[in-house]
Amino acid sequence: MSISHKARQIISIMAMLGGFGLVGSVNAEDVECKFISTIDNNPLPIKVHEDDTPEAKEFYKTCKNPYTKKYVADPEAAKAGKKKFAYYSCTQCHGGNAGGQTGPSIIDDRWQYAKHLTDKGMFESIAGGTPAGMPAWHRDVAGNPELLPTDDILKIIGWLRASYQGGGDKPWLQE
Ligand code: HEC
Repeated sequence: MSISHKARQIISIMAMLGGFGLVGSVNAEDVECKFISTIDNNPLPIKVHEDDTPEAKEFYKTCKNPYTKKYVADPEAAKAGKKKFAYYSCTQCHGGNAGGQTGPSIIDDRWQYAKHLTDKGMFESIAGGTPAGMPAWHRDVAGNPELLPTDDILKIIGWLRASYQGGGDKPWLQE
């Protein structure tokens, strides 16, 4: 076998390995917004993925959910979030309209943790779980690719804000 043939072989093997490195498509890149666990305040291990939507990437930079204002203004668009809420069986504990069942209502003004007044805080509880009964739902935190990518959580939050029935300020609209 000539050297150049061997070299070509090595190059193509390396290219293949490089390709495999992208399977699961997690970039080593960290997100800019610092997400912390509601359980223990440690950083949540959320990474930028190749398949993350532009909205998810915007959220990583700004800590602001691009769907919230859009869905509050357009209930028809908000249904995309409601679909995800049902698809992942959040309905089992929170009810079909998120008004509460065995889990608390998410559309009234009684928050389990004050930080749920912001989309970043609510994202942290859904993504990373809570001290009293909510498991982690984000695929990176749960270590399960079948679970929620960032975009699905953002759509759910947008729908929850659009469905809000409580009084008081709505700081998520001022963000
Ligand atoms: C096994 C039952 C269960 C399921 C399934 C569940 N939750 Fe929860 N959820 C809870 C409980 C219990 C709490 C209260 C946790 C606490 O106080 O620490 C909670 C709290 C929350 C809160 C904060 C509510 C507040 O008033 O501050 C949000 C937001 C939330 N859940 C979203 C979701 C989403 C989104 C899903 C689906 C991806 C989901 N939950 C699935 C049980 C559940």
